[in-house]
Amino acid sequence: MDSTIKRALEFGYRAICLTVDRAAYGRRERDLAKGHRPTVHVGHASETFQAAFNWDDVDRIRSYVNVPLILKGISTAEDAEIGVARGVDCIYVSNHGGRQLDHSQGTISALPEIVAAVGGRAEIIVDGGILRGTDVLKALALGATAVGIGRLQGIALGAGGEGAVVRMFEIVEDEIVRAMALLGVTKLAELNPHYLTSVEPLARTWLESAFPLMREGYGAPASEIRELSLALPGDVLAQRVKTRNS
Ligand SMILES: Cc1cc2nc3c(=O)[nH]c(=O)nc-3n(C[C@H](O)[C@H](O)[C@H](O)COP(=O)(O)O)c2cc1C
Repeated sequence: MDSTIKRALEFGYRAICLTVDRAAYGRRERDLAKGHRPTVHVGHASETFQAAFNWDDVDRIRSYVNVPLILKGISTAEDAEIGVARGVDCIYVSNHGGRQLDHSQGTISALPEIVAAVGGRAEIIVDGGILRGTDVLKALALGATAVGIGRLQGIALGAGGEGAVVRMFEIVEDEIVRAMALLGVTKLAELNPHYLTSVEPLARTWLESAFPLMREGYGAPASEIRELSLALPGDVLAQRVKTRNS
């Protein structure tokens, strides 16, 4: 790994980002349903290697990396604190787009405690479900310096290639500018947590949101999906909302 990083530095890379939430490979049920076999599973060397990665490796890499060092995959204040103490320049709050630890906390929920722990000593990037301009503003209001976009780029690229990716960014930019105007702010720096309030989701959770391929015949037949979904916590939520409104 050191030789790869050193080559990147020689080529003039302006930052080095270490992904640290891949100690093991998540059980990715969408991939399993599609019969996708990740290349990483062809050999086990890289798996063992990633599991062995620890804070001493961060120290060693920090000692020779003369550009900003980013730790991607931080999800707790404790790890953010250790990273900053070891001289990391940027804490990248991420749960790998939910692709690794199933049921892990949403990054937008983890962000406030991490912002508090870092206390301005490092930049903070966050990703996970950033799909609209308002999502960008929510992250910045909670103290992120920047956001990362994963699947949105993939969706745009798949829909229409490079031009669609450019168009996607134009749309997100337009959404950001309009939302700022409607919030009454003229600078991103004016955003703060007081612009946000947490609410309960209005829509019921739905089995297919977790298993979107079931309707396509990868799992239970469509008739059974509805029955299964009725047993899900969405009903509990719907009942709670009903009770609250009555
Ligand atoms: C197809 C795909 C491949 C990814 N590969 C990597 C990877 O090799 N390294 C990494 O750190 N994150 C990887 N990620 C995670 C993204 O960098 C990012 O954290 C995540 O997609 C953000 O969530 P979002 O897709 O909801 O925007 C990948 C994500 C996707 C969808």
